[in-house]
Amino acid sequence: MGFIVVAACLGVCAILLCRLFVVPHDLRHLPRVPVLPLLWSYSRGEPEDKRLRRLVLPFANEMGEEIVLVWALGRWMVHILDHKVGYDVFANIDLFPKEDPPDDLLLWRFIGRNNILLSNGEQWRRHSKVIRNAINQSIPVPQFASLSRRLFSVIGGGQSTQHFDDLAQRFALDAVGTTAFGYDFDAIAHDSPFVRNYNTIMHAIANPLYLIMPFLERVVPRHSLKKRMDILAERFGEILVEKRETPGPDMLTNMLQDVHLTDGELRDNMLLLFIAGHDTSAGGIASLMYFLAKHDELQTQARKEVVDVLGTTDCPTVENVQRMPFLMSCVREALRINTPIAYVVPRSASMPIQLGRYTIPANTSIVLNIYAVHHNERDWPAPFDFDPNRFQNISTVGAAWIPFGLGPRQCPAKAFALHEQMVLTAMMLREYKWSLPASSVHADDVQNAFSPFALCLPHRLDLVCTRIETP
Ligand code: HEM
Repeated sequence: MGFIVVAACLGVCAILLCRLFVVPHDLRHLPRVPVLPLLWSYSRGEPEDKRLRRLVLPFANEMGEEIVLVWALGRWMVHILDHKVGYDVFANIDLFPKEDPPDDLLLWRFIGRNNILLSNGEQWRRHSKVIRNAINQSIPVPQFASLSRRLFSVIGGGQSTQHFDDLAQRFALDAVGTTAFGYDFDAIAHDSPFVRNYNTIMHAIANPLYLIMPFLERVVPRHSLKKRMDILAERFGEILVEKRETPGPDMLTNMLQDVHLTDGELRDNMLLLFIAGHDTSAGGIASLMYFLAKHDELQTQARKEVVDVLGTTDCPTVENVQRMPFLMSCVREALRINTPIAYVVPRSASMPIQLGRYTIPANTSIVLNIYAVHHNERDWPAPFDFDPNRFQNISTVGAAWIPFGLGPRQCPAKAFALHEQMVLTAMMLREYKWSLPASSVHADDVQNAFSPFALCLPHRLDLVCTRIETP
């Protein structure tokens, strides 16, 4: 009897699993990445860029495909590998709205749904107007400079080995905290409970078992994780209340002056700005530091440019930043090679469409695979070489450079993020030289952390930093 029950349970599980991975009938004509290597990759925690390089990029570079079907997070999605096809889809936000995120995935519960990232139509326009106004009121260059000095006081003088992925995350967190909420997490100088809590939550959400079988959230719910997420979200609610009483020169004060968002929507947007605005920037900063460490001659060239422009000033300006084209090319090239967001939130086709030579049925999930576009050999010769000279003439920055996405819904904080990287790196170049330790795991290639949410963030990036003594 017991044997029959076990066999029946196993049978039901097998049927459920097969249904999870089976390709829908109307998508079978599309080229696709085999599911078993994908599952193997997720289950052993392979970083996103390595998975894409092995399993997805060959479709673009060896087979000349513009799209490919990929299984991820419980369903099949069409990945766009070519920027021209991407423009056709991402320019039209009404025909291709963002997909409703699956209920089971805790990531969406954590981020919340009433925000600029996940809304559509009129609701998105309302959120977008408020958030874009708030982000674009000014570029907080003095704030970035002040936080850079705080970072240098932690790195200190002489020579030391620094965990730079950690420092970059702390810097980006303080940058978003002070400029977006007027709230100092003080993460650069101290062990912040915010960082610890956030990292614990993201780590737990990324459990491969729940990623491969999202329905487990219903079968074996993770109550303590949900509670932890709620506590962090509540903390943002408290910051909101405090901000009403003590307004300041930050984005949140600007958002509060607009009556078009409710308190719940404001809080969801705060959490979103926190998540969208710190891991991405941290990844960009750490990647840039890595490539400059690996290419000493480019670091020297960038330093010369910075010293010529900045002299001894401790307060760089937007105008200073505009006079550093070589450093800007390094920033752009790092964002191309190790693009912080490998692919965007899925869109849903509201009607059947033609993508390249394939017809795609309505309601298909479609994502723009930024990593694949950035390594497509048709647009980027030798795509894995770090070569800032590709961008020497700013006007030649091609349409295929899309780290901030495409169309009306591309990142509203592009200028913010580029200046954040420029100011920190410029000041760092003037104060320090840095290199990879002899035993670095990054000696041949950047090693990213495992991220099921399409992030490319360098992992365990140690850098040997040496203070430049001024005579
Ligand atoms: C190097 C740093 C960054 C990169 C590479 C980046 C990249 C992106 C990308 C690719 C998207 C489009 C997502 C999609 O189409 O589904 C996006 C959207 C967004 N980003 Fe960024 N981002 C960065 C920094 C930031 C920062 C610092 C903030 C806030 C302070 C921010 C706030 C947002 C918001 C609110 C959206 C949603 C826009 C919308 O749906 O209309 N990002 N970002």
